[in-house]
Amino acid sequence: MSKVFRRSSKVITSLLAASLAFGTVGYATTDSNNGNVNGKSSYSQDQKIVARVNAEKAIEHVRYLSEEIGTRPGGLEGEKKAADYIAKTLQGYGYDVEYQYFPVGDQYIANVAFNDGTFWEMVAAPNGKVSDEAVKGEVVFVEGNDYSQVNGKIAVMARASTTAGYRTQVNEAVAAGAKGVILQSLVGGRGNLGQTFNPSLTTSVDVPVYGASYIHGEWLKEQLAKGPVEVSLTSTQYSNLQSVNVIATKKAKTKSEDTKEVILGAHHDSVVGAPGANDNASGVGLMLELARVYQGYNTDKDLKFIAFGSEERGLLGSRYYVDQLTQAQRDQIEAVFVPDMVATSYDKAKNLYAMTPDGSTNIVTESTVSAGARLGNSDILPGTFGSSDHVPFHNAGIPAALFIWMGVDSWSPLVYHIEKVYHTPQDTIADNVSVERMQSALDIIGSGLFDTVRKQTPALDKNK
Ligand code: BES
Ligand code: ZN
Repeated sequence: MSKVFRRSSKVITSLLAASLAFGTVGYATTDSNNGNVNGKSSYSQDQKIVARVNAEKAIEHVRYLSEEIGTRPGGLEGEKKAADYIAKTLQGYGYDVEYQYFPVGDQYIANVAFNDGTFWEMVAAPNGKVSDEAVKGEVVFVEGNDYSQVNGKIAVMARASTTAGYRTQVNEAVAAGAKGVILQSLVGGRGNLGQTFNPSLTTSVDVPVYGASYIHGEWLKEQLAKGPVEVSLTSTQYSNLQSVNVIATKKAKTKSEDTKEVILGAHHDSVVGAPGANDNASGVGLMLELARVYQGYNTDKDLKFIAFGSEERGLLGSRYYVDQLTQAQRDQIEAVFVPDMVATSYDKAKNLYAMTPDGSTNIVTESTVSAGARLGNSDILPGTFGSSDHVPFHNAGIPAALFIWMGVDSWSPLVYHIEKVYHTPQDTIADNVSVERMQSALDIIGSGLFDTVRKQTPALDKNK
């Protein structure tokens, strides 16, 4: 199986590279005195955190979320279980926790079950047969447009690159007598291997039509090479769904009218079919581990730990959160730290980037870049990127940044790398999580955030 993932490395499309162009930003470093400002050593403050945060503990949360629970599509049972786990953990650390529910659209979930009891999660086309009545049959992989073997079978094929193209494939397979169709995702944009997807059909067909990830198709081919494969197809339309943000608060030691608020927020959902170990059980694991360590310290600002729901469905949880705040509440928020994909083991993702949507620097990027400098940790770099829960805050004028491990091949033209297993069934601890990367992210984000919330926050000009 691992062979599949040692394919020649793919560069991320120029479209992505264009959207990734870095802003020109300088490093905010501390004085040569190791951040010793106002008679207090920032560095010794950092040590309170660095000496205590433990990547193994953070990864235990990643294990629970990605293995014990598994996939966590927004609005579904897995996401709810994740929310409960996060809430219980934060309550256990002594924080006040609340749930914030919001409505999300229907999900069409497909299950492909094998005789040995394993099953794969995919997306079911709403215009195909969506039913818990099983369609059982032998799998045939269609090469080119040779449909001669599909009558009475379940046709699997690499999807055409256009929507019109795969609609034709579906119609031809059904016309040839297929009793189910599984479309294998393309190799994928962003250099990744192609995630499960919703086949968009204009004309209804009365057989199940599922959108599989690229690796699902490769795994089926491997099984077929050994002998006949039988599967059982079932699917469900889930309606009237609610997704949920989990919000824990650590109150400032003394509260006044202008007490500021700082947020550490990570999404807890995953895409359909992906256990989301790095994306984003890693960000939640980091958040929970920092919550554990911070519980023993007083802060001069309110600190909120928020697990956002349904990020993968369009940043829905963070959008909802920002939308329901009054302007006065928004003005209180000084900084939003968003860890999303903070532990990949992908060798080319060499730096932890503090990304803002427009490349501007702010208290979040500067506090963490400064923390890196104090700690002698050169992993952290500033950069430009959207695509996560920092965007709604940024759009509301609130300083926010995303933390993510990425790689840059060369500066001209810019070529960025993220792991190939991003959004796939192989986003697992075994294939995509590094203890060292998690530890580095904990040290840097933990120290930068602590510097931002504690009483004396020197070390930086926070433009306030
Ligand atoms: N963790 C990713 C964001 C990401 C991916 C950043 C790759 C940088 C490189 C996030 O969970 C995600 O996939 N976001 C969606 C956003 C969309 C649903 C608004 C995306 O980028 O497709
Ligand atoms: Zn993510």
